[in-house]
Amino acid sequence: MADLSSEFIGIKSPNPFWLASAPPTDKEYNVRRAYEAGWGGVVWKTLGEAGPPVVNVSGPRYGAIHGADRRLLGLNNIELITDRPLEVNIEEITRVKKDYPDHALVVSLMVPCEEKPWRDILRRIEDTGADGVELNFGCPHGMAERGMGSAVGQVPEYIRMVTEWVKKHSDFPCIVKLTPNVTNILYPAKAALDGGADAVSLINTINSITSVNLDTFAPEPTIDGWGAHGGYCGPAVKPIALNMVAEIARNPETANLPVSGIGGVTTWRDAVEFMALGAGNVQVCTAAMTYGFRIVQEMISGLGQYMDEKGFGSVTEIVGRAVPNARDWQDLNLNYVTKAVIDQNKCIKCGRCHIVCEDTSHQAIWMHQGRVFEVNDAECVACNLCVNVCPVEGCITMRELEVGEVDERTGKKVGQYANWTTHPNNIGAGCG
Ligand SMILES: Cc1cc2nc3c(=O)[nH]c(=O)nc-3n(C[C@H](O)[C@H](O)[C@H](O)COP(=O)(O)O)c2cc1C
Ligand code: SF4
Ligand code: SF4
Repeated sequence: MADLSSEFIGIKSPNPFWLASAPPTDKEYNVRRAYEAGWGGVVWKTLGEAGPPVVNVSGPRYGAIHGADRRLLGLNNIELITDRPLEVNIEEITRVKKDYPDHALVVSLMVPCEEKPWRDILRRIEDTGADGVELNFGCPHGMAERGMGSAVGQVPEYIRMVTEWVKKHSDFPCIVKLTPNVTNILYPAKAALDGGADAVSLINTINSITSVNLDTFAPEPTIDGWGAHGGYCGPAVKPIALNMVAEIARNPETANLPVSGIGGVTTWRDAVEFMALGAGNVQVCTAAMTYGFRIVQEMISGLGQYMDEKGFGSVTEIVGRAVPNARDWQDLNLNYVTKAVIDQNKCIKCGRCHIVCEDTSHQAIWMHQGRVFEVNDAECVACNLCVNVCPVEGCITMRELEVGEVDERTGKKVGQYANWTTHPNNIGAGCG
C-alpha cells in the first residue's frame, strides 16, 4: 500500500489524520486509545492558565442537526476549554509523548491576551516533549466573552501580537487555529503569517443556535430555561471550511503558509478534498465523536487505496493539486454548455425533477403520459438542480456539448473558452 506517512511543519506522524483539540483528546486515556486505533496525531484539548480550573455547565452541552435518516449532519457545543487542572494535563502529555514518540502530539493553548500568561504557559509545557503548539484563537462561546478564543481570532492585530510572543518565548512549531467567524479569512491568516506562525489550522467552530424549543421558547441546548450560542461543526460545515482553506492556498501572500484542514472531515474523501485544496494534513473531531476512534481505520484504508489507484507515492503529491482549478467566477468559461439527460432505465418516475424545474428553474422537463420525464434542451440552462434533487444517483447526468454544436436554447454554436472579462455585456458593473 502507498506510504501514508506525513510531515507537517517538521512534525512527523504515521498518517495525515490527527484528532482535533476537543473531547476526544481531553485526557491520557483517550489519546492512548486514539493512537492505538490508528490516529497519526492529536492536538490535545485546549489548556488554560494555571489556577482554578475552568467550569463547564452541568446540563446538556451539545445540540445537533440530523438528516432524515437521523444521521448527524451538524453538531453544536457550548463546552469550554479543558476543565481539568493544568498540572494533571501536563503530566499526562509528558507520559503519552514518551510512550508514543512516533505519533504527533501538539498542545492547544488559550490564555489571556497578555504576554506574561503566554510566556508562563509555554514554560510549563516546555519539557513535555510535545511536538508543537496550537494557539486556540477560535472558540466562539464562553471564552470569547472573557476576551480569548475568537475574540482574539477576530482581530488580526491581536493574532499577530500573540503569535509573536509565542515565537519569542518558545521554540515550538506554532500553529495558529483560526475562527471562521470573520468576513474574510485572509486577514487573520496574513496576521498569523506576519506574527511568525509556522502554520494555520482551520476551521474552529461556527457561531450558531441549533434550534428553539417551541414549548419553552428557549434555544437548545437549554440550561435551566436559557440557551447560549455555541460552536457548530461536523459534515455541515465542510463546504465553509474547504472554501476558507482554498482562499488561503489561492492567495499569493499566504499560498506558502502550511494549513491543517479541519471541519467536517468524516471520510478519506473529505480528507483528500482538504489536501487537494492545500491542506498538508487534516484534523477530525465530530466524526470521532459520532462514530468512535476506529473510524480512522476506514480513512487509512480508503486513502491508501486511492493513492495506489492514482499512483501517488506520498500524501504530499495530493497537497494543492486542486488549487490551480479553484478560480474566481469571472474566470469561468461562459462557452461551456451542458444539458441534463435523464436515464429512463434508472428513473423511478417520482417527478421531483419535473416539479423543481417547473416551479423554480426553467420549465425544461416535460412530463409525458405514463410519467415519462424528458428534458427539453431548448429550455434547459443546465443549472443542475434536477441532478441534485433526484433521489436516484446517476439517473440524471449532464452532457457536455462539443465546440461547434448548436445550443438549442440560444440557437448559437458553442464557442471556444471565453470568460466574463471579455464578454460584450460586461460594461464594468458587478452584481450579486
Ligand atoms: C465539544 C467540542 C469541544 C471543542 N473544544 C475545542 C477546544 O477545546 N479547542 C479547540 O481548539 N477546538 C475545540 N473544538 C473545535 C474542534 O477542534 C474543531 O475545530 C471543530 O469541531 C471542527 O471540526 P469537526 O467538524 O471535525 O468537528 C471543539 C469542538 C467540539 C465539538
Ligand atoms: S438542469 Fe436545471 S434547467 Fe435543466 S432540466 Fe435540470 S433543473 Fe431544469
Ligand atoms: S427525479 Fe429522478 S427518478 Fe424522479 S422522475 Fe426525475 S429523473 Fe426520475
